[in-house]
Order: sequence, then structure tokens, then C-alpha cells
Amino acid sequence: MKWRFVQVSDPHLASSYDGEWNHKVICTMMPGVMECLRSDLSELAPDFILATGDIASQQTRAAMLKARDLMDSLGVPYYPMGGNHDFVLEDSRAWFLEAFASRLPAPRTFYSFDHKGLHFVVLDPWWMWTDDSLNPVSEAAVAEKLDKDISGARWALPPDQFVWLENDLKHHASTPTIIAVHYPPIPVPVRLKFPGFKDSGYLNNGALLMERLSAYPQVKAVFCGHAHVNYVEYSHGIPQITTGALPEYPSEYREIQVFEDRLEVYTRSLSNPEFAERSKVPSRVVTRGEESDRRVTISLL
Ligand SMILES: [Fe+2]
Ligand SMILES: [Fe+2]
Repeated sequence: MKWRFVQVSDPHLASSYDGEWNHKVICTMMPGVMECLRSDLSELAPDFILATGDIASQQTRAAMLKARDLMDSLGVPYYPMGGNHDFVLEDSRAWFLEAFASRLPAPRTFYSFDHKGLHFVVLDPWWMWTDDSLNPVSEAAVAEKLDKDISGARWALPPDQFVWLENDLKHHASTPTIIAVHYPPIPVPVRLKFPGFKDSGYLNNGALLMERLSAYPQVKAVFCGHAHVNYVEYSHGIPQITTGALPEYPSEYREIQVFEDRLEVYTRSLSNPEFAERSKVPSRVVTRGEESDRRVTISLL
């Protein structure tokens, strides 16, 4: 192995909200989870964390700064991106840029960077309103009930970002590339659903995104979160690694080992199993994913 990074998703930090999704979502246990994760990552020693959104759960500047402090407490460099809990209001992106100024390679909410022979591209989809228009902020009615009910919420990558993305990919044609975006382009597969399954939704123009990405053979994988479910699905031969949320069962993260010719993706539990146990609804443990959702090898050739 040459090096490794980890993907952490949907930590929903700096929130006092404890609710229910497919399992209990226990935001108040996150300070303890982060302490455990800090200790676990100090042994693993990843080069960095890819933090695929829903970093701060509440829409205030203070929450964003507190979420930043908790991410900093992990003691590992990280690349943050926004999710539907981070980028809701007119000021949200400004708070994000302020909080994560020292972490971002450029003062932008979508960006790319290189690390030891891999290229990473981070995207920032916008809200799709009831009238199908794309806006950086949420409709008020959707924003008000974000913690409990996600019905009516839709997101899509705006046209300008497609242009930026394809320009970036054209300029990095010979470097194996990873795409990171909070909302999954490919929805949760039926095989992981059960009666009463709560579906967070997916990227509205995700099929178009995967089709465009397939024109660039250097694109090797898409990493995302948002669904609070571990699943791996493929489109045009490109694997989408979707990783569950830390405050919800199974409270796991991904370790990605980087080799010359491949990536090996492993799903890691916290060393303290009590966090996952507290959240767990036993009849719904399928959200941890099947074996094919938990252990993947991705060719870089
Ligand atoms: Fe989330
Ligand atoms: Fe989300």
C-alpha cells in the first residue's frame, strides 16, 4: 500500500437534536463519537479525511464554527464539503468558507486537489425548488422541517458546475480521479429497503452526471453520503461508494487503501460499539449494507 485516506460522512455536528430516521439519529452523542474516532484514526494514520457533507446540522454561524472545531479535534487534515444541512440559507456558504478557510485548497465550495497521484473533485449541488428552478438556498418551507421530514427537497448540479467539472477533468486526463458529492447520483437500491424505509432522495440529475463522467476514463469512483446507508452501486461501470452517517447505526466510516493499480475500500466500525448499539433498530440493520456494499476493490488502470 502507498497511502490511505478515510471517508467520514454526515457527522451532523454541533446539534442537540436527537431524532429518528431509519435508526435513531443521536446528534448529542457526537462529541463522544469524535473522541473515539480521533483515537481510532491516530492508529490508522490516514493522510486525510474526505468529509462528504452534513457536517453541521443546524443552520447558524456558531454551529458551523463549532462543527469545524470538532472536525479539527480529529487531528487529521480533512477536505470538507456541504450537504443539505450545511448549505440551506443565504449566508450558509459564507459561514462554511469562513470556518474551513484553512482546510480548503481555495476559498470555494466546489474545488479540486491532487494528493500523491490521485485527483479529487468536490461538487456543490444546489436546491431544486418546487418550480424546478435551481437555487443555492432552500425554499423556506423545506428548510423549516429539515431535521424531521425531507419531503419536497430536491437537489441538482447546476449547469455552470458541469462546465467547470468537465473543464477540470479535461485538464487532468491522465490522473486517476475521485468525485465527491454529498447527494448520491445513484439512489438507494431496492435490495436495501424495507417497509417504512425513509429515503433521503438523491441527486436529481445524477444519471446525467454519471453519463458525463463516463466520458472521462480517468474517473474511477464517486464518494457520497446523505442516504445514511452504506451502499455501493455502479453506473457506466463507475462505482458509487455511499457511506452512512456517524450519529446513526452503524456509525461507520470507510478506509481507502491506495495502491499503484487499485483502491481497496474497507468499512470500519468505531472501536467503541456502544454508539452504534444506542442508535440501532434491530429490524433495520440492513442499512449497514451487504458484503458487496462494505468491501470493494476499484481498479486504477
Ligand atoms: Fe445526513
Ligand atoms: Fe444530507
